[in-house]
Amino acid sequence: PTALAGRHFLKELDFTEAEFRGLVELAAELKAAKKAGTETQYLRGRNIALIFEKTSTRTRCAFEVAAADQGAHTTYLEPSGSQIGHKESVRDTARVLGRMYDAIEYRGDSQAKVEELAAYAGVPVYNGLTDDWHPTQMLADVLTMTEHCAKPLRRTAFAYLGDARFNMGNSYLVTGALLGMDVRIVAPKSYWPAQEILDRARALAGSSGARITLTEDIAEGVRGADFVATDVWVSMGEPKEVWAERIAALAPYAVTMDVLRATGNPDVRFLHCLPAFHDLGTTVGQQIFDAHGLSSLEVTDEVFESAHSVVFDEAENRLHTIKAVLVATLARETLA
Ligand code: CP
Ligand code: NVA
Repeated sequence: PTALAGRHFLKELDFTEAEFRGLVELAAELKAAKKAGTETQYLRGRNIALIFEKTSTRTRCAFEVAAADQGAHTTYLEPSGSQIGHKESVRDTARVLGRMYDAIEYRGDSQAKVEELAAYAGVPVYNGLTDDWHPTQMLADVLTMTEHCAKPLRRTAFAYLGDARFNMGNSYLVTGALLGMDVRIVAPKSYWPAQEILDRARALAGSSGARITLTEDIAEGVRGADFVATDVWVSMGEPKEVWAERIAALAPYAVTMDVLRATGNPDVRFLHCLPAFHDLGTTVGQQIFDAHGLSSLEVTDEVFESAHSVVFDEAENRLHTIKAVLVATLARETLA
């Protein structure tokens, strides 16, 4: 078993820098092994329940393919397909699934729910996204950063533009702080992370040496950045009425070519957890564009499709990093 055997994966704050980096390194090894056709199966005979109270493409597929690659089996419980939270309490669900499965993934709105599942399941529980945190996404983003920037993480700078009060903003701030990075949150003040999260990040930065900047000034926020990241302006579970307010507040923070140029770094890379609103390719995107007379939202098509964009490497890395979480927490044998 590895040092993380039996552990939950609920939020970045539960891990030390060494543990988090160890997961990213394991993911890089698993990725290389898969590409070379030399992957060892550590999870044969394991069963993993995947609870999705919100929809997903990447996270669900990453868990299913990672498990299959490793010889494990998954059961997908769709947003309306289980009793959890409707006819049965979270703690009863946890105790039932914990009797049948070796691990449980949960995606939904409330962090309290995934923490309660973890408290009662008796098996490792993984957070596949809540309103507060998206920790498996952070493993993929950090792996992607190490692949696209030769500098050590402690000298890597990234700027997140957009709504920083939700899962992605919170997770970027805390992950950057944990890993000693130069992390900038660039948004109107009312969209900055909650004070409590900022306090936790500053405490982490005190020991890791991270540099934390919160600013409304785009030029200041992105100067010298190795990576520029953003996320949708309206997240899953939010009412569509908030679009108008978000567009009014966040339109200046859209990632455009001018924003990338303002970094002064010709090799700057663009990150987005996806799904993204960058063109007219989606029905929802079309409706929003039509309603507001826009041609792009959080990122322009030009940036998204440019050589700066590494969003599909980032999406692929969801697979390798989620596999690392499964192997680290569930493998019976010592890894080769
Ligand atoms: N980035 C991400 O979590 O994508 P999905 O919502 O498709 O899982
Ligand atoms: N903030 C987005 C992330 C999607 C992966 C949401 O919660 O919908």
